Amino acid sequence: MNARLLLVEDERAQRELVAALLRGAGYAVTDVSSAEEAIRRLEREDFELVLSDWRLPVMDGEQLYREVRQRFPRLGFVLITAYGTIARAVAAVRAGADDYLAKPFERDELLLSVERTLRARRLLDENRRLEAALVEARGERERLVDLVGRSAAIQRVFRHVTRVADSSATVLVTGESGTGKELVARAVHTLSLRAARPFVAVNCAAIPEGLAESELFGSERGAYSGADRRRPGRFEAAEGGTLFLDEVGELPAAVQPKLLRVLQEKCIVPVGGDTERAVDVRIVAATNRDLLADVARGRFREDLYYRLCVIPVHMPALRERREDVPLLLEHFLAAACKRLGRPRPRFTSALTRRILDHAWPGNVRELSNLVERLVLLATDAPLDLDDLPKDFGPEGTRGHSGAFRLDPGGIDWEAHERDALEQALELTRGNRAQAAKLLGMNYKALLYRIEKHGVRPWPAGLGASSNGPNEGPAGSPETGTIFP
Ligand SMILES: Nc1ncnc2c1ncn2[C@@H]1O[C@H](COP(=O)(O)OP(=O)(O)OP(=O)(O)O)[C@@H](O)[C@H]1O
Ligand SMILES: [Mg+2]
Repeated sequence: MNARLLLVEDERAQRELVAALLRGAGYAVTDVSSAEEAIRRLEREDFELVLSDWRLPVMDGEQLYREVRQRFPRLGFVLITAYGTIARAVAAVRAGADDYLAKPFERDELLLSVERTLRARRLLDENRRLEAALVEARGERERLVDLVGRSAAIQRVFRHVTRVADSSATVLVTGESGTGKELVARAVHTLSLRAARPFVAVNCAAIPEGLAESELFGSERGAYSGADRRRPGRFEAAEGGTLFLDEVGELPAAVQPKLLRVLQEKCIVPVGGDTERAVDVRIVAATNRDLLADVARGRFREDLYYRLCVIPVHMPALRERREDVPLLLEHFLAAACKRLGRPRPRFTSALTRRILDHAWPGNVRELSNLVERLVLLATDAPLDLDDLPKDFGPEGTRGHSGAFRLDPGGIDWEAHERDALEQALELTRGNRAQAAKLLGMNYKALLYRIEKHGVRPWPAGLGASSNGPNEGPAGSPETGTIFP
């Protein structure tokens, strides 16, 4: 596999030359002209190595190096320096950069440095992998992350989380209520080398203001009347592991500067004490508030915001990744039936359609709660629209209601039609009768279009495709549970 390299160089001619040399040697090279752009690419794509010029506009190579080390500790980093900055480059290598190249350099020097760095990084990775495998084999690793989702949006989150889990950098998870912020916080912990150490969750909204400080940092004996012994706080409880600060936007104003200090100094001072205690804790915070807006309003300290938001992770709302609804529905159905010892309920197609169309203001939690309710309500008859909670929200948010907007630039109709077909088959797990209903066309019209586009049947093994209107994993099309 060709290693993916990110080249950061503001001088165009230089950049093109170096990129061409590296490409000539078989590397996949992405080249950018600023450190800021480099960070944006690193957040979105996987690279093995960064080659960065020292002198860059705005943020320089050294600052980029520090940022990369903190946020993407597995990346190799080679600094390219010019006359006058070599001493500092040597210092950067001492501080952990893999190598530096002094301009002007020869092709062979460049390739040797890249190759050496990649080899060293891969060795390090292999060690980490073995270490992690060992932890797992010892059974210390908890049940691995239980995150369901196939949409591009959620897959991006998973990849990002996997990549950043290893570092100890602070993570801020944002997103609407019920989108899975806590699940992701746990995933960050479980996928890190801290997995065998505690994961401690604190709901900042639930601690009374007066108690927040002792809850977090502990208290010494005699700190207040009735304090007959020393009480360790949540930070100490999480020693070596991860502290999850849920609803961090609700943290009382008086406690914010204290938390900021802990993040800066990595030391706590228990209430009523005067000596600092070093703590090794990774912080993952979550909020459904717009913290930047709170910063602007003076509700949340700006410096604390930036300390927390070293690695931002945003959980997309469920309506932004509807293609995950069938998968999550299936996941929660299986779980609820197993937990409650109930048979799998059947849905009328009207109910199925209604569920697929719903806007999910309460996100994944709303879906999970709905499934629980439906499983409990189920009798021999298929579940129908009346079984939905009264407050389930208005009828469909897409479909014929004009939700589809024709792009003024026009669309490729054939591709659009094919896409709709494929999505309908995916949602119905290959049940063509159901797919035809979803698309509001008759069965024959659907078959004709499947043939016309050469759409392949639903992948074998995942619930077979069908031969006629009365088949499919779901039973009859009238009452078919499309999620068998
Ligand atoms: N991708 C997912 N796969 C499986 N289950 C999920 C997923 N996302 C969320 N859930 C489940 O949905 C419920 C809500 O998730 P979670 O508690 O993590 O949300 P949250 O963002 O912290 O919500 P809130 O802001 O209301 O606290 C949980 O039961 C969780 O297990
Ligand atoms: Mg939560």
